[in-house]
Amino acid sequence: MFQTIERRPPDPILGLSAAYKSDTNPNKVDLGVGIYKDEAGNCPVMRAVKTAEQKLWQIEDSKSYIAQAGPELFLKHSLDLMLGNDHAAVKGKRAAAVLAPGGSGALRVAAEFVARSFPGTRIFVSDPTWNNHIPLLGSAGLKLELYPYYDYQKHSIKFDEMMAKLKQAGKGDLVLIHGCCHNPCGADLNHAMWQAVADAALKQGFTPFIDLAYQGLGDGLVEDVYGLRLLASQLPEVIVAASASKNFGLYRERTGTVLVVTETPAATEAAATQVVGTAREMYSVPPAHGAALVGMILEDAALRADWDAELTDMRNRINGLRAKLVAKLQAKGVDRDFSFIQNEKGMFSFLGLTQEQVKKLIGDYSIYMVGSSRINVAGINNANIDTLVNAIAAVL
Ligand code: LMR
Repeated sequence: MFQTIERRPPDPILGLSAAYKSDTNPNKVDLGVGIYKDEAGNCPVMRAVKTAEQKLWQIEDSKSYIAQAGPELFLKHSLDLMLGNDHAAVKGKRAAAVLAPGGSGALRVAAEFVARSFPGTRIFVSDPTWNNHIPLLGSAGLKLELYPYYDYQKHSIKFDEMMAKLKQAGKGDLVLIHGCCHNPCGADLNHAMWQAVADAALKQGFTPFIDLAYQGLGDGLVEDVYGLRLLASQLPEVIVAASASKNFGLYRERTGTVLVVTETPAATEAAATQVVGTAREMYSVPPAHGAALVGMILEDAALRADWDAELTDMRNRINGLRAKLVAKLQAKGVDRDFSFIQNEKGMFSFLGLTQEQVKKLIGDYSIYMVGSSRINVAGINNANIDTLVNAIAAVL
């Protein structure tokens, strides 16, 4: 049966970790997979997570299945974190959250839910988007269409072209939008652009599908959901896939949320049962550990404050690194304007290099990044920034 199976090439993002690990160059630099790294190059367990884990170990008295939709505490706080308890959709019981295995799990369950309920649904995704969006959403059965998004020359959003393409999206179509910290380009919609998307959705009837993987790592926990909250207050329907991988550092615990906002409490309740039922058919019940930690941290004022403070430090560090990289490239006399990096948000930016130049950075300098020249800014530190700047100058 399996004799004819062909080997898959390594994943374009996750495969970089293995290549980096096996590289023996002592000056190697890892700007590949999107994980937060501290100044020492470690992806730390956040302080509040460690404390919550100690408490959880003491109080957890069973490893029986958790509720299919996820623990109450987690769901309550997920809604609050994303929309805010005073949001009309929450108050009006038009919003429901369901725990999913990570942001990718949330994307997949949400996509499967829509594709099974409405076969042939189209989803418009930004060009470029996260590498894994295409296979993940496509193999759930959604029909993918690309909309123009990033201008590689001007390092800005091609908003007019984006909106022109989205004129084709109507009732029964999904439009995937990165809630903040666009992966891979770091260029986010501004307030006026979010409003224009809301107006178009209202007029044309499409449903925004928000991928919210980096809340808190752009401008702030509340600032980063400006667009989501706006859409959820002005539109009848929004669907969200959120991740706790980055803002709680819970990558391996696979903790994510599907959030559904519909026109009525009854439709929301029905949709939540369908999301849960879809998950039952795919993996039965969600993993408990990460969701228990998030619930405990957000419920406890001291833990929450500590988490918020550490997340703020992480965000400030990334933004500081952005400014530092731009300044160092300028000081090096590199004949190209990299100032756009300072204006972009979250972990990622494109350096704007060719595939050949990226190959050279990896092969000759052991500086690892995605083939598109996407760098994980958080992987830069004081010990490696000069190596990086010198190498970029050399390949240019
Ligand atoms: C990334 O884009 O690097 C992260 O979201 C990790 C992944 O799964 O690709």
